[in-house]
Amino acid sequence: MSAGEEQFVDCGLRIADCGLKETRTANPKSEIRNPQFSAVLDRLYAAEMPERTDIETVLRATDDRDIELLFDFADRVRREFVGDGVLLRGIIEFSNICRNTCKYCGLNCYNTRLQRYRLTSDEILAAAENIDRAGIKTIVLQSGEEDHLEADWLRQVIEEIKGRLDVAVTLCVGERSRAEYQAWKEAGADRYLLKIETSDPGLYGELHPGMSFANRVRCLRDLVELGYQTGSGNLVGLQGQTVGSLAGDLQFFKRGNFDMISPSPFIPHPQTPLARAPAGDLTMTLKMIALARIVSRTAHIPASTAIGSLHGRDERPKALTAGANVLMPNFTPAPYRRHYEIYPNKRCVSEDAAACAGCMERMVTTLGRWVDYSRGDGPKRSLKLEV
Ligand code: SAM
Ligand code: FES
Repeated sequence: MSAGEEQFVDCGLRIADCGLKETRTANPKSEIRNPQFSAVLDRLYAAEMPERTDIETVLRATDDRDIELLFDFADRVRREFVGDGVLLRGIIEFSNICRNTCKYCGLNCYNTRLQRYRLTSDEILAAAENIDRAGIKTIVLQSGEEDHLEADWLRQVIEEIKGRLDVAVTLCVGERSRAEYQAWKEAGADRYLLKIETSDPGLYGELHPGMSFANRVRCLRDLVELGYQTGSGNLVGLQGQTVGSLAGDLQFFKRGNFDMISPSPFIPHPQTPLARAPAGDLTMTLKMIALARIVSRTAHIPASTAIGSLHGRDERPKALTAGANVLMPNFTPAPYRRHYEIYPNKRCVSEDAAACAGCMERMVTTLGRWVDYSRGDGPKRSLKLEV
């Protein structure tokens, strides 16, 4: 058995016996169950590689009872495999400087209205210490893709954090060379997030001028091979995306056997070519989260800030009850936060970091869950990706 294959072992969880009876009693709407839809969910859960047609059936479902069944099942799988704890990851957005022209992203280099910044090492360390003081054991360092981000500078920042604090460090700084990924790993970085955004190579090329899908996959493969706990994810609702390409994204996640998976809604930004495109649909995003939970079982899945910002309502509790188990409080120093404007009206931009973490604690306990202050490492090693 190769690394990661254990996730395919069938633990026997089935819709029929996974405890949904309790939900049905609580909510009579679920009493009439669609046996064909239940069978699709069971197949998706058990499959070594989920069938595209099964995924599409779920993504196209419009009956509230089917959708409720999906979310309930994902919630049960979440409880069975990662428990009721909700992990916190403190994020520091240390630079919004970017060379890329991603058509959906407010940080794209053509956005001349954005005030650009990069934190100093001391500012990053102070923010990291704030995260540690809040009892959070993962520090996520995120930035645009800076031409001038020196690998050695970031290596020193990682070493300083790891030398001073007992925390996991997650990097999210985009596409870099294997040698740079290796240097950061050797400096102590534990994890890396690099969303595929869309697994459809044609759409990927359309949305990312000057970038290549093959290089994105090369990066993911390097990260996995170098021993990073690796995360990927997609944007839901991108212009030109189809149900078929979302189904492909889910198969991509399953093939990658990622430690973290983040499906998140697209939100249009006025200074981008997609300014007039509609935002991603909340239910479709929740369906992707639920499916990611059902097919991956053990991956850490965030209820992203974008879900909390969509349409001005905080819908993260819905994600947490549809398979998600992670929240990411923002510890970027207050003066810089509003400049990390990936999309407009981002949640928690004006809160101070401690208030943000407190608000998440309340959200979690309201759901009858608890905040897990452990590091929350990935439970498995990832498989190698094929291009
Ligand atoms: N440069 C790094 C990278 O490319 O992975 C990290 C920074 S990037 C801003 C972080 C994430 O923001 C991306 O993976 C993307 O999914 C998300 N993002 C960018 N624009 C967005 C938008 N308009 N709506 C929602 N999410 C967006
Ligand atoms: Fe570079 Fe979004 S375009 S971070």
